Formats: sequence, C-alpha cells, structure tokens
Amino acid sequence: MSALFQAKLDCFCSFPVCICPAQNPFICPVGFDSFVAAIDRFLSPIFSRFLNWIPAQLLMPPEKGHDTKNVIVSDKVSMSNQMWVEKYRPKSLDEIAAHADIVATIRQLTHDKKLPHLLLYGPPGTGKTSIILALARELYSTSFTQMALELNASDERGIDVVREEIQAFASTLRASSFGFKLVILDESDSMTKDAQFALRRIIERYTKYTRFCLICNFPSKIIPALQSRCTKFRLEALQFEDIRNKIQLVSSAENLKITEEGILAVCRVGCGDMRKSLNILQSAHLASKDVIDEDLVYAVTGKPLPVNMGNLCDSLLTLPFKEAVIVLVERKIIEGLTLSDIVEAMMAYVSQLHISSFFRTEFLRQLSEIDRCMTCCMGERIQLLTIVSIFSKLKSQINQ
Ligand SMILES: Nc1ncnc2c1ncn2[C@@H]1O[C@H](COP(=O)(O)OP(=O)(O)O)[C@@H](O)[C@H]1O
Ligand SMILES: [Mg+2]
Repeated sequence: MSALFQAKLDCFCSFPVCICPAQNPFICPVGFDSFVAAIDRFLSPIFSRFLNWIPAQLLMPPEKGHDTKNVIVSDKVSMSNQMWVEKYRPKSLDEIAAHADIVATIRQLTHDKKLPHLLLYGPPGTGKTSIILALARELYSTSFTQMALELNASDERGIDVVREEIQAFASTLRASSFGFKLVILDESDSMTKDAQFALRRIIERYTKYTRFCLICNFPSKIIPALQSRCTKFRLEALQFEDIRNKIQLVSSAENLKITEEGILAVCRVGCGDMRKSLNILQSAHLASKDVIDEDLVYAVTGKPLPVNMGNLCDSLLTLPFKEAVIVLVERKIIEGLTLSDIVEAMMAYVSQLHISSFFRTEFLRQLSEIDRCMTCCMGERIQLLTIVSIFSKLKSQINQ
C-alpha cells in the first residue's frame, strides 16, 4: 500500500489497513462512517449555498385550492353533489322538528343571557348537532367562525387538544355584543378520560366568557364531574310523523316521484333516525330515477320486504319442523338475508299476531334471546334451528 493511500485512509479511519478487522479500506467498519461524515462536511456548505439561490416559493408545498400538476382542488362543492343531510340541515331553531320544549328552553335561556353549559344526549340523527349549530348561527350570524369552536370525533380528542386548542380559544377575549363564546364538543363520549378531566378545570376557569356544549350518544361515558357542570337535555328518537314531514319536504324540494308506501317504508326503516331516513331516500333516488316505491326502498337498504316476512312466518307456523327449516334456509339464501334481519322482521310480525299477551310476551322474550346470542357470536345454524323450534312450540301451545 502506498504511503499516500495509507495517509488518506488515516484521515478518516484510526486503523491502518493491515490491522483493520475488514482488511479493506472500502468496507472498513470503523472508517466508513467517518468517510461519509467527511463527504457530508465537504458537500453541505455547497448545497446550502445552492438552496439559498432557489426562490422560496419553489420549495414550499402547494397550497390547498391552487392548481397542482394533475389535480385541481376546489373548496366549493356543487350543491347538486351535496349530501342531503347537510343540504337540508336546519338553518334556524324554527326549522327543528320535534323537541319543542327543549328548543323553547334553550331559546329563553339565551334570550335572558343565562345560557348554562349544555349536555345534549340521545340516539343518533335526532337533531343534537343541528340544534346547537342553529343556535350558534342565530347568535353570531357572520361572526360564527370567530365566536364558536366546533370540534367533533374526526378531530384529535386527546388531552393535548384540550390543553392547547380549547384552552387557547376559551382564554382569548373577543368582543361580542352577545358576551360569550361557544365551544361545541360533538361526540364528546369519544374523548379520553384524561381529556375530560382536563376539560373540567378549563370549564371552571373560563366560564365568564365561554359556554361549553357537549353532545353525545352515551352520557354514561362522560365523567360525573363534567355532567354536574352542565344542564342536561335528552333528545328522544323522532316520531314517525316528524320524519314523514321532513321526507315529504325534501322529496318535493328535489322533485322526486315517490309513492305514499315509499315514504312510509323510508320512515319505517329509518327507525326514528332522521339522518338514516334522509340517506335512505338519497340512496333510493341515486339507485333509480323512476318512481321510488316500497320495493325500491327495501332493495337499497337490503332489508326483507314485510309482506315476504309475513308469508315466511305463516309458513313456519303451519309447516312441520323439517319442512319449516328447509323453507327458512331457502328464503335466507334466495333473499340474501341475515339472521338479525329475520329476527327483527319476526318481532314486528309477532307484535301484530292475534294471540294472548302471555304467548306474545313469551315469543318476544325468546326472539330477543336469539338476538342476544347472535351478538355474542354464537353459531348461526343453532340460532336458525332455535327460531324454527320457537315457532313450532308456539303453534302447539296455540292449538291446545
Ligand atoms: N329534529 C330535527 N329536525 C329537523 N331535521 C333533523 C332533526 N334531527 C335530525 N335532522 C336531520 O338529520 C341530520 C342529522 O342531524 P344531526 O343534528 O346531525 O343529528 P345528531 O342528533 O346525530 O347530532 C341533519 O342534517 C338534519 O337534516
Ligand atoms: Mg351529531
């Protein structure tokens, strides 16, 4: 090895090649890292000088809403593509269906400038978010974004958000004729326990300028300390008539051709959930531009038609055990039904049967037991046989 090469190797490696464990300057385990570091030291100043010449705009990521190479991002969503649940979300408290007492109380408290911290809870699609958004819009109108902070489950819900984002918003003083700001914590039952404990302190500290509104489905998931700081309002599942009125309103606004049975089917499958009902209506409209009728509604939701389920239950009540099992399996495969669909439809059928209340109660109790077993992942085949046996037992009891 020449003296020059040995000298060059020595400047980034402490081992001469002859005693180096790898016996090779280019894969020398000690020298390689030093070699990379030396190259880096040499090239970095050149690169950084070169970067200084490049205009800053070229190094920044493209902003939202600007044209990029292949994609044009636009903030404006065309109204025709909008989900109907958003398009027809009530703009004011007057447009809220049902919950008249709750709306009147909140309105009165706001008018008297005595609005407490609120906890709205209840099943989904009953208007919890809509009520608070409508209230905030009525209160702040164009200053909505400055005076109200809305966080929902899609945002980070850990303690950091409470300590940073919520505290920063609550602690700043903003001039308003109304006096206080609103923090809306939608789906607050998904907040971590730590975040809820941190929020308890913030609610107390900034109560002079800020009101907090917690919205959730399950109030039991909110810590008692937070619950006791809020005035609680429970929103019931909506009545059939309330949903029917809104479905009729949306249908005429969208110029839909929908039969009366179609509207009833949407309300029935919606089960008191306005969001679900509006989504079913929109799906039916997208699935077919023709008339929306009962069959189409059940087809888009994948639920069995009540008349088919009625016939199936009649067969189970008349046929012998073996044939009844065959009929049930056939219908399940042909119509692509799940067992929970069948049990749900059977419950509706049994509720209308002309039998004594003793048999009806017993029947419903056994069907609900099957429903419970299915949620515990018990074998579907056993549950199917149990359904047939319940029907044959009922048949023998009724005939006695
Ligand atoms: N009481 C109601 N009155 C009028 N529309 C409602 C009502 N409840 C729900 N909706 C409709 O259902 C959609 C979902 O309502 P939302 O307030 O978000 O329900 P949630 O109770 O789950 O917060 C809204 O866009 C609105 O169109
Ligand atoms: Mg909501």
